[in-house]
Order: sequence, then structure tokens, then C-alpha cells
Amino acid sequence: MSPIVVNATQKKKLNHPPGPNPPWPFGIIRQFQERPLAKLEELTTQYGDAVRFRAIMHFYGYIFCHPDHNKHILQDNNKNYTKLPHPSLLLLTPVIGHGLLTSDGDFWRRQRRLAQPAFHRQRIADFAQTMTEATGVMLDKWQDGQMLNLAEEMMHLTLEIAGKTLFSIDLTRAADTVGEAFTAVNEEVAALSSTPFAYERLRYVPWWRSSRIIHQNTAVLDNVVQTIIAERRQSGEQKDDLLGMLMAARDEETGEGMDDRQLRDEVMTIMLAGHETTAVALSWVFYLLSQHPAVRTRLEQELADVLGTGHTARLPAIADIPQLPYTTMVIEEAMRLYPPAYAIGRFGHEADVIGGYDVPANTIITLSPYLTHRHPAFWEEPLKFDPERFTPERVAERPRYAYLPFGGGPRQCIGNNFAMTEAILLLATIAQRFRAELKPGHQVEMEPLITLRPKGGLPMMLRKIRG
Ligand code: HEM
Repeated sequence: MSPIVVNATQKKKLNHPPGPNPPWPFGIIRQFQERPLAKLEELTTQYGDAVRFRAIMHFYGYIFCHPDHNKHILQDNNKNYTKLPHPSLLLLTPVIGHGLLTSDGDFWRRQRRLAQPAFHRQRIADFAQTMTEATGVMLDKWQDGQMLNLAEEMMHLTLEIAGKTLFSIDLTRAADTVGEAFTAVNEEVAALSSTPFAYERLRYVPWWRSSRIIHQNTAVLDNVVQTIIAERRQSGEQKDDLLGMLMAARDEETGEGMDDRQLRDEVMTIMLAGHETTAVALSWVFYLLSQHPAVRTRLEQELADVLGTGHTARLPAIADIPQLPYTTMVIEEAMRLYPPAYAIGRFGHEADVIGGYDVPANTIITLSPYLTHRHPAFWEEPLKFDPERFTPERVAERPRYAYLPFGGGPRQCIGNNFAMTEAILLLATIAQRFRAELKPGHQVEMEPLITLRPKGGLPMMLRKIRG
């Protein structure tokens, strides 16, 4: 037998990504609990773009942050990578069930097809007026010299807009209830994402403290969702908003509609995913503007040029967006430094090779827009806030997957155009009338929950520019 023929039973030596492989059985999972984002950053700084770490016992986790890795997992070989049973996504299922964000395969594809028309560009254009009007109502209540929690204001505003545009319902009165319940769930789920067997305990141990917190607050959110659905059913109206589309949807083969549980899951998913992320993005925008007066001045100049000044100034409309490139770039750059979805989880089914490294079957993978967006090979002076990075010429120089605030591939955010339109219109409307200054002495810190929030909110002092 020729010496180069390898015996089929002989195992090929696997080329694992580098990373910590401590001998103790508990691995390093606990180290993620206190400082998940800092730990991700620490590992990739030490080991590079691909890291394999012993999480617990014989389970390993993988982190990838090179644009080519992102592209491979989210796009080129996306069929091999599903959401479930990634532990962090499993933990969301007691809250949002199996809606668009947490379903897979044919079932997900069907639901995505049903929901897609509600996010068509023309539909979003119809929402623009609702967005600026709701913002105007908020600004009429704001006063010069007032101190407020800007993060909370943004959360209320985007919830109201999601309610009015997607479900044709006014959620303003529910804003505090939703905010508090969702924050409690958010904090608990984030804390559990590095707790071994957390999902199993949530399911089977109802008296566990975390189970109680999550179940109680989910019940509060459920109440709001059930009201949204019940009000529509009682009205007997057939509206063509997202809720109407989901309710009218019929299975091509069986002719059956969506059952109550599925409808609840989709509404809950959109209600939560559709407001918190944009609110967080805007909060970071206002924080960064408060720290970079030159950027703020340029932004205000663009708004004055396009929308006028003083009493002749008008509200921005959808047709103004192409004339507001700097406003758009400010938002894009803020989402580079502080991507609301700072981590994206996937479960790899079959063995694969990523960036030259072997990745075995049944693997838990974390991608991180946060890490990729600060990767020094793709971003010069990555920590500097510089909206000029998003001029069309500079965007064209970078790989597509060096910037992924909305993910990529077939599971890319369904609400990305909605969110960008909303963020641009809201920023333009607010920055025309007010500046926000950070409360003196307040230290802003990142809080990586399900999304990347400013810890403890954003205490800011309002300065009125015009009435
Ligand atoms: C700045 C705002 C937003 C950011 C940064 C954001 C980010 C993301 C990201 C990164 C994903 C992909 C997650 C993954 O691949 O695992 C995603 C998915 C999703 N987002 Fe957004 N999102 C935003 C706004 C919205 C809005 C406004 C809506 C709805 C109104 C929405 C609804 C969804 C849904 C339903 C999915 C799941 C899509 C699917 O898997 O088919 N998002 N989002």
C-alpha cells in the first residue's frame, strides 16, 4: 500500500481556532457573565479573528469577527447555520415564542414572506408623516433647560410609532408598562445567557427566581399584545397594516390562517424588535453629538439648508432623505461604534471550514458586529467618531460584511429600511429644535443586554434652538 493513502478510520488532525482551553471543567463561561462584551473583546484581541474557547465541560464556543467569516456564516453557507438551538436565542423563546426572529427553516420562510409586504418601501413612505408628527408632539412637551432621560424618551417614541404604523394602535399609555417589563426581561435574559442549563431551568423550574421574573414580565407584555389583537378582532376592520396582513394570511395548501399562538409570537416579536433597537441607536447618536460639537454644527447646518430656519423651517419628509446625507452618515457611524445588535448567535449543524479553521458539527457560534465594526484592519482609528467614513466612496472601499448593524444574508433585519427612515426623520426633527447636553459628571457606560444600551439611561439637559 502506498504510504500516502490515509486509512479512512484515521482521524484527520483538526485545525482549531486558537483560544483558551482551561483544564478545569467549568471552562470560562462564567467569565462572560459579568462583562460579556469586554470578554469578547479580550479574547479576540488576544487570539485573533477566530477564537475557540472551552465554555463548560466538553462544550466549546466559537467567536468569529472577520468580514469574510460573517459573510460565510450569514450568507454563503447560511443553510448550515440556524438560530435555534443557540442558547441565547433559546432564552428568548419564553418571551417572544417562535416569531420571525427565533424560527428557522420552511416555517420561518413562510412567515417572512407573509410579513415582507408590510415593510415595502412605499409602505414605509406612508409611515413618514406619523413618525414626524409623533416626534413633534413629544417636542412640544420638551422645554429649554429641562433634564430628562433621553433613552427613555426615545423608547416611548419608537414604541408609539411602531404601534401606530404596524398595528394601527396607540400604545402611548402602555409605554411605561412595556418599558419596565421589557427592561426586566432584557436584564434577566442577558444575565442568563452565560448560565449553564438556564433554558431548561426556565422551562421546568417555575419557582426559580429567574423563571418568575421572566414569566411575570412576559405576562405583562402578553396583556399588551392580546389587547392589540383583540381590539382589531372586535373592530371587525380589515386594515392593510402588518397586523392585518398577518391576520388575513392563509396557508397556500391548507387554506388555514395563523393560529392565535403564532399571531401572538409575531406581534410580540415585532413590537419588541421594532422599537427598542431604533431607540437605542438614537440614544447613542445623541450621546455622540453631545461629545462632538463640530459634527453637531455640521448636522444642524445640513438641516437648515434643506429644511429652512426659524419660523420658515418645516418638518422633514420622506423626499428630503436623499438630501440629508450627513444626517444619515451620523446615524451609520453611531451604529458602527454602538451597534444595537452587538452580537449575533448561530448554531452550526454540519462540520464546516471557516477562514481555514475546522469547525465541528453542532457548534455554538457568536458573531459580533461590535467587534467587526472596531476591527483595526478595516477601520482606521476605530474608536474615533467620524461620520465621513460613510461617504459612498469610502463605503465602496470596504468589504460589505465589515459593517453589519442589520446583520446580513436571508436573515437580515426585515425592519432595516423602516429603522433607517425612522432614525433619519426623528433625528432631523429633533435636532432642528433642540440640542441635548449630557448631564455634567455623568459617565456613560455600555450595558450589553439583548441590545447595547447606555447603562442607567441617558440623563441629558435640553437646549432649545427654536420654538
Ligand atoms: C436600528 C434599528 C435596528 C437594528 C440595529 C436591528 C438589527 C437587527 C439584526 C442585526 C437582525 C438580524 C439578527 C440575526 O441575524 O440573528 C435583525 C432581525 C430582525 N429585526 Fe431588526 N433591527 C432594527 C430595527 C428593526 C425594526 C424597526 C423592526 C420591525 C419593525 C425589526 C424587526 C426585526 C425582525 C422581525 C428580525 C428577524 C428577521 C428574520 O430573521 O427574518 N428590526 N434586526
